[in-house]
Amino acid sequence: MTNITTIIQENATRHGNDRKALIPILQSIVKEKKYVDRCDMVSIAKALDISAADVYGVASFYSFIEEKEKGENVIRVCKSITCEMKGKHKILKELEDLLHIKLGETTHDKKFSLLETNCLGLCDVGPAMLINENPYTHLKAEEISDIIHKYRHSVK
Ligand code: FES
Repeated sequence: MTNITTIIQENATRHGNDRKALIPILQSIVKEKKYVDRCDMVSIAKALDISAADVYGVASFYSFIEEKEKGENVIRVCKSITCEMKGKHKILKELEDLLHIKLGETTHDKKFSLLETNCLGLCDVGPAMLINENPYTHLKAEEISDIIHKYRHSVK
């Protein structure tokens, strides 16, 4: 695992030692460990000479930047109106039953976190969800088990 300080320094060198580097740094940390905690935010703020509140403001604006550790696979079910009307609640219920967790939780083995997200831009093929960066569309409750099975047994 790459050290957070190294990630910050590499991005600051590439993008400039100021606010321009903020989003790339946040993205790189998320890529590395899937979340950006308060300690990371303070380190970023010091490196870029901006306030920690600034960093937190930007990080909390983006729903894809998590503040707490998540599972190996992060599931994001679209909660916006079109997917809602197309049966998103059945998909969510199936995921909760299958994973034995509720929305917002992580499985005990840390394999999955179950979250909701705003519109993914896949409304015409909803209900939709992402697992990590992979989109799933036209979802049906009966398909969920097979999809989860693939991730449960994947080796990273
Ligand atoms: S409403 Fe679900 S992807 Fe747009």
